[in-house]
Amino acid sequence: MGENLTTSVRNIFNQVAPVYDLLNHLFSLNIDRYWREKTVSRFSSLQNLRVLDVCTGTGDLAIEFAGKSFCKEVVGVDFSKQMLAVAEAKIKKKKLQGKIKLVQGDVMRLPFPDSSFDLVTISFGLRNLSDRKSGIGEIVRVLKKDGILAILEFSPVQDGAVAYFYRFYLNTLILLSVIW
Ligand SMILES: C[S@@+](CC[C@H](N)C(=O)[O-])C[C@H]1O[C@@H](n2cnc3c(N)ncnc32)[C@H](O)[C@@H]1O
Repeated sequence: MGENLTTSVRNIFNQVAPVYDLLNHLFSLNIDRYWREKTVSRFSSLQNLRVLDVCTGTGDLAIEFAGKSFCKEVVGVDFSKQMLAVAEAKIKKKKLQGKIKLVQGDVMRLPFPDSSFDLVTISFGLRNLSDRKSGIGEIVRVLKKDGILAILEFSPVQDGAVAYFYRFYLNTLILLSVIW
């Protein structure tokens, strides 16, 4: 069951990869850019950070970190080859290859030793993990003592127009874009 779910999630992101950024910016009315900038700016008082961005997708958060001087190195992990291909093209275009490393892998089995990173980030990826408990367990394992986990995620909205739009976005627009 867990493996099937993992495969389905990976297939969906492999299919949606070429249009993922467009849809993301369109459906969020570009606010997703601001959220990423805001997330990264919260760590600007720290120094020499070794950052792991899990579920990095097309790499926007990893790229945002890599552009900052307080960040020494960024590693982006995702299990979707196609999402990583889009990330790689953007990283090359911005000439950030020296600062960002992309790794194809599963959050549930991170290919890093214990206590490797100062900061682990996950943006809009937590809800996609087939087993959140194991995923977070793995993240904690690779974090250094006193390391930080930053989660950027939508929270469920129960009522009102925002809830209606959110359900429409999740149930209709995303599904249509995958089929199309
Ligand atoms: C909604 S996208 C978010 C991408 C990016 N972080 C962003 O902010 O736009 C979720 C990503 O999580 C990845 N993903 C989901 N489950 C994963 C897992 N178990 N291991 C690695 N990547 C996973 C998907 O392939 C996809 O690229």
